[in-house]
Amino acid sequence: MILSIDQGTTGTTAFVFDHSGKLRGRSYSEFPQYYPNPGWVEHDASEIWQVTLRVCAAALQRAGITAGALSAVGITNQRETSVLWDRSSGEPVCPAIVWQCRRSASICDELRASGREAWIAEKTGLVVDAYFSASKLQWIFREYPELHRRARRGELCFGTIDSWLIWKMTGGRAHLTDHSNASRTQLYNINTHQWDPELLELFECPESLLPTILPSAAGFAITDPTSFLGAEVLISGVAGDQQAALFGQGCVAPGAVKNTYGTGCFMLACAGTERPSVPAGLLTTIACDDAGQPVYAIEGSVFNAGAAVQWLRDDLGLIQQASDSEQLAHSISDTRGVYLVPAFSGLGAPHWDARARGALFGLTRGAGRAEIVRATLESIAYQSHELAQLMGQALGMELACLRVDGGASANNFLMQFQADISRIRVERPRQVESTAVGAALLAGIGASLWQPGRQPRCLQNIERDFLPQMPATQRRQLLEGWLRAVSACRAF
Ligand code: G3P
Repeated sequence: MILSIDQGTTGTTAFVFDHSGKLRGRSYSEFPQYYPNPGWVEHDASEIWQVTLRVCAAALQRAGITAGALSAVGITNQRETSVLWDRSSGEPVCPAIVWQCRRSASICDELRASGREAWIAEKTGLVVDAYFSASKLQWIFREYPELHRRARRGELCFGTIDSWLIWKMTGGRAHLTDHSNASRTQLYNINTHQWDPELLELFECPESLLPTILPSAAGFAITDPTSFLGAEVLISGVAGDQQAALFGQGCVAPGAVKNTYGTGCFMLACAGTERPSVPAGLLTTIACDDAGQPVYAIEGSVFNAGAAVQWLRDDLGLIQQASDSEQLAHSISDTRGVYLVPAFSGLGAPHWDARARGALFGLTRGAGRAEIVRATLESIAYQSHELAQLMGQALGMELACLRVDGGASANNFLMQFQADISRIRVERPRQVESTAVGAALLAGIGASLWQPGRQPRCLQNIERDFLPQMPATQRRQLLEGWLRAVSACRAF
């Protein structure tokens, strides 16, 4: 049995898979999100740890086993979210700054003004943006000089959520991360596959603060029974959630593409062992090959997708649950010209505009609940379409097929609209939790339960595909409207 922990932006899910890939137990819980200022997003790392422990215990109980029966644990996580904790007490010293948080936008403006953008991109494959960890860490050091002094004295640890969970699960014995998570910090050099001393200097980050980097399938550490469910279990798979989903979808050959519809939307293509040349607006990042070793991937990141549906549910109260959106969208034939641009935390790829803000356009007196809900789902597909176009350019061909996963990929309206607007075949696997599948497969390979390329394939079986049906003129008009809405929200 393998325990796979998916620590996402809005909740943690734990899965227990058996050796044949069958799901034996699952448990999910959301945890609080904090928005102390406009554009700011925080988590409490201690709450993340508590909720993770709880869902792991519940998933094991549902599977009818104890932690002692596990052969391995895999961890996958929201990336970039930055945690700083005290090395001796193991307690966080400030709130975790979430990947969506824009508070360090002015640090990024300074970096761009200093002309370092191209230099940083050459080293990291990333654009200069508040999305990544380095500027978040620098923001903390500037706001709290005492924490900077403590960091320089070696009293603190920094990590993305994978490092934080490993630290807690091992009772503070292991400070580790993997290449895929490291590649999202903007402190890691994707050419040398190491922390980059010049970037550490630029972001004023002492090296002692950082975890040791391992491949995604490896013997990371053994859990400490007093800290983690009373058992010693090998942690042998670790990857950022989008790279885990790429692996879980079986996209380990150059050119294979997946799109995950989670809090945001993340389209990744495996690019192999040679660093690819990537059009402006996309990122180069680190994923893993079939043995969990680092390879290059091309990524397009959209910040708000499922988060916009959550907004309809929790803030506007237009739906009771996310799945209601499908039926409401189907209840009308179009949005009557309504567009939502969900730039709640600026716009990611391909626009990279931290200051854009969300907006609803085209409202007439006839526009109601159904139009707004449908426009929200359509906005997810439009944003993914922009990624697919750029991804096609990066790969030198128009994409013929998109493998999808993540919670919102269960929405049939959204998947059909995606196929229509992108003129692409959309393939949905039976198990849409590819992120957790990827972490479980990596853990199984890292623990030598499976040989690379010999893991169970049943998890990748296609459940349904969606073929483009929309007339070309309708598609063109819809896309023109979307582009007008995006430029208006950037000019606001
Ligand atoms: O880069 C952010 C990403 O890892 C968040 O993923 O699944 O929490 O939307 P998710």
